[in-house]
Amino acid sequence: MKEVIEELERRRDNARLGGGIQRIEAQHKRGKLTARERIELLMDENSFEEFDTFVEHRCADFGMEKSKTPGDGVVTGWGTINGRVVYVFAKDFTVFGGSLSQAHAQKIMKIQDMALKNRAPIIGVFDAGGARIQEGVDALGGYGEVFQRNVLASGVIPQISVIMGPCAGGDVYSPAMTDFIFMVKDTSYMFVTGPDVVKTVTNETVTAEELGGAKVHTTKSSIADRAYENDVEALLQMRRLMDFLPSNNQSGVPVLPTSDSPDRPDYSLDTLIPDNPNKPYDIKELILKVVDEADFFEIQEAYARNIVTGFARMEGRTIGIVANQPMVLAGVLDSDASRKAARFVRFCDCFEIPIVTFVDVPGFLPGTAQEYGGLIKHGAKLLFAYAEATVPKVTLITRKAYGGAYDVMSSKHIRGDVNYAWPTAEIAVMGAKGAAEILYRSELSDPAKIQVRIDEYQRRFANPFVAAERGYIDEVILPHGTRRRICRALNMLRNKTLENPWKKHDNIPL
Ligand code: HXC
Repeated sequence: MKEVIEELERRRDNARLGGGIQRIEAQHKRGKLTARERIELLMDENSFEEFDTFVEHRCADFGMEKSKTPGDGVVTGWGTINGRVVYVFAKDFTVFGGSLSQAHAQKIMKIQDMALKNRAPIIGVFDAGGARIQEGVDALGGYGEVFQRNVLASGVIPQISVIMGPCAGGDVYSPAMTDFIFMVKDTSYMFVTGPDVVKTVTNETVTAEELGGAKVHTTKSSIADRAYENDVEALLQMRRLMDFLPSNNQSGVPVLPTSDSPDRPDYSLDTLIPDNPNKPYDIKELILKVVDEADFFEIQEAYARNIVTGFARMEGRTIGIVANQPMVLAGVLDSDASRKAARFVRFCDCFEIPIVTFVDVPGFLPGTAQEYGGLIKHGAKLLFAYAEATVPKVTLITRKAYGGAYDVMSSKHIRGDVNYAWPTAEIAVMGAKGAAEILYRSELSDPAKIQVRIDEYQRRFANPFVAAERGYIDEVILPHGTRRRICRALNMLRNKTLENPWKKHDNIPL
């Protein structure tokens, strides 16, 4: 018996070494942790249970039969994060660059199937070069089956991808089908084909960082939802994120104890809106002052900063926040902001996370750049996402709610459940100046006359009361009581039941 146990230990030690000491050292030298070190940081202490430690590839081409490593380049299993079950797989770059063989794919599929069957989130940690070139179509087939599982699990369990090294091919397409992608600055890259292939095909000379670094994907392409300084920070932030996310689409949101009273007033909010309607203020100040313990996990912080999206809690329960940001482009809705917020709203709706919307929006961004770029379709994405959402929707208009953007931003007309406005709200087709200049074009040459018209429009529409008179705003509230009002509204909506008509699926303007 002793010998058998020793043999097991020997085999386990060998598997833990992955591609060997030298490659582990190379990994560390690049500022990266190994797959097992990453899992250890991600999961609760001693909670990780590994599966398929001894799986090896079965390829016999290109001399591969002589080169086998137990585990075959991916560490898979399950454990807990702050006590809740999570499935995980982490690519081991020290074994064939973490590339995917048929056996490697089967390990991932096993974990995907278990996560879906047992309705628990799955986290993939990527540091890999895509399909294992020596395996040909077996590797491609493996990816196809992983992709299929990504799609079937979408909207049922949260799927999170953490990119922690150079990733190509299938190792970017599978993450692209998950809910969120996080990267590590300077050590992680995502591209369908790397710089060498780019040079050959298009003759472009580009570095890995320029082609698919964290900066590119968090600011330009919007592929990644956030980037962190290093592996440790990224993994600790993933633990924080998981505390916000439900385990599945039927579990309800997690509830964390909080000492932050739902009745806590904040009198500084009474002076948040500047007297000058064209002066910006930071909507994040409102978010931080209203949510539990100022704890806000922002999604896509660096992209389309004219809209803010992220998770917070009210009375310990997760909410999704969408807020126009007057500090950036006056909070206007453009194509990027619409796409960003639409995807976030849809995530919340999939997973029954109530949505709180803070509105201060001067409208959609005019111009050829936006129109040629498909603003109509991108703006429609956000409208569609809000309109189809059946989760509790609480909206607060702080200042401007102009034009179509008023409708889009979770208005009463698209099934907003509780719609509040501050007394500073201005709900109108457009700003007073623009309106007067269109309605009284013939008076434009007389500045005094047109000013009278502007003042008249301002008096009539630059307030929340016309909308409140019609019931489009449920109540005009005092800013300092915002937290109390939203908490009460969310409580009241706790058992909301609303179903859309049966359909196979909708046809959101993609
Ligand atoms: C087999 C691979 C591999 C692969 C890397 N390696 N990628 N082995 N198949 N796909 C091996 C290398 O041979 C090397 O082995 C080790 O991993 C480390 O690779 P390096 O190139 O030395 O590392 P680095 O310079 O950091 O570059 C990493 C990389 C690069 C950017 C990922 O290796 C690369 O471009 N790989 C190929 C990417 C690719 O085109 N994959 C196929 C995509 S097609 P040794 O023994 O020297 O340590 C695909 C189809 C899916 O995925 C379908 C999508 C829809």
